[in-house]
Amino acid sequence: MTHKTATVLIAFAGITLTTLIATASGPAQRPAAATHRTPVELGAYLVSTMGCHDCHTPWKLGPKGPEPDMSRALTGHPEDLKMPPAPALPAGPWMASFAATNTAWAGPWGVSFTANLTPDKETGLGDWTEEQFIAALRTGKHQGKGRQILPPMPWSVYGRLVDEEVKALWAYLQSLAPVKNRVPQPIDPPEGSQR
Ligand code: HEC
Repeated sequence: MTHKTATVLIAFAGITLTTLIATASGPAQRPAAATHRTPVELGAYLVSTMGCHDCHTPWKLGPKGPEPDMSRALTGHPEDLKMPPAPALPAGPWMASFAATNTAWAGPWGVSFTANLTPDKETGLGDWTEEQFIAALRTGKHQGKGRQILPPMPWSVYGRLVDEEVKALWAYLQSLAPVKNRVPQPIDPPEGSQR
């Protein structure tokens, strides 16, 4: 076999394989990057499928029960919702309590409040850089260099996304209208309690 024939065969095998994969999988199974052409479109798709709204969009009581209030999409724990002290839990396998908005969480780590992900300069991600955003998801530290990011933010799950996807998340979040909403700082757990 000449070198040229071998190359043609390999190329042919490649096409057949690609065709087979393309035929075997419908649109739903195509890689996200192939169906969402711009980074903002891919980011919108990822945000809508990876649960960001579940925690970063305050819940309201809708006709079918609690659901994210999309008029406050991704604005984090509402500034005007002052949380009373977390309820004491009975002994037993219950670990955490969360607000009706699903934006404040009390557990062995203290109380955490979900961040404002809109690009507001003072209260959101407006003055962050893309590097800080990527580093936060990869390292689990605030902006990649500060304190530990608290539960239940699943940074270790999102940190496994490939660069193209994390950058798309960033591009989409930065494309949102900035909303001013100052989320409270987390509260440490009481002295001597288990962390
Ligand atoms: C299960 C709830 C939950 C989900 C789902 C979630 N987050 Fe979070 N997120 C949190 C909480 C709580 C905090 C605040 C943690 C803290 O203060 O340490 C947070 C903080 C953040 C921060 C700030 C990190 C920092 O460096 O200070 C970013 C950015 C973020 N989330 C992005 C996202 C994105 C993007 C998604 C979806 C892909 C998402 N989150 C999904 C709960 C969640």
